[in-house]
Amino acid sequence: MLTVTSKLRKKINIAIDGHSSCGKGTLAKYLAKALGYVFIDSGAMYRAVTLYLLRNKIDLDEVKKDPEILKSIKIEFRFNPEKDYFEIFMNNVLIEQEIREMEVANWVSEVSAVKEVRDFLVQQQKAFAINKGVVMDGRDIGTKVIPDAELKIFMTADPGIRARRRFDELVRKKKMVDYDEVLENIRKRDDLDSSRVESPLVKADDAIILDNTNMSIQEQGQVALAWAKGVIAIL
Ligand code: DC
Repeated sequence: MLTVTSKLRKKINIAIDGHSSCGKGTLAKYLAKALGYVFIDSGAMYRAVTLYLLRNKIDLDEVKKDPEILKSIKIEFRFNPEKDYFEIFMNNVLIEQEIREMEVANWVSEVSAVKEVRDFLVQQQKAFAINKGVVMDGRDIGTKVIPDAELKIFMTADPGIRARRRFDELVRKKKMVDYDEVLENIRKRDDLDSSRVESPLVKADDAIILDNTNMSIQEQGQVALAWAKGVIAIL
């Protein structure tokens, strides 16, 4: 008979998809830490490609004509024990800050809608997950990247609540913002993510819905961790 410890040593993959500003990254980090897994932020990879194209003044038509251009982009996640976090590097340079800037945020939806970009990144995301023990968050993780993930979570929350959380976060960072603008941006991103032709945001049939409208970070973490442990226990 297997002992509890040896059972927990069996690793699974966890796919977290859902709407923007739902706290997918926060949940993914929580689960990766609790289980000792690797956290892969797939949105950060789309942001990295966007940053590269902006810096090198390459437009999307060029990428569509010659997808080989993308092969000059090397993306890695390296664990930083001081920050207790997997940081993203592009061509050996840390780009955590740069990918969160407004210019990147304004372009990333367009970049992530391009088939050639998706093919390039999905192939790498699949490779990251091959040895199990990965928590990956994004929009197409449970449907396209790791369709065989042992646990799939689809996160959602009321748009008003998501806008309030994002607004409070920006205010804490001393950014001048208008709540209605934040709400409008969230609604727009939901529409774009769900209506695009390439890999639209859809819930995988076997994903469990986690609506965190009335949940704290701690509560959602505990709920999802119990799901993960439940799956690992019956492996
Ligand atoms: O999660 P995020 O806001 O960092 O994602 C950035 C953009 O990338 C967003 O426009 C959605 C897109 N994205 C995607 O199309 N597929 C993924 N797997 C992850 C993100």
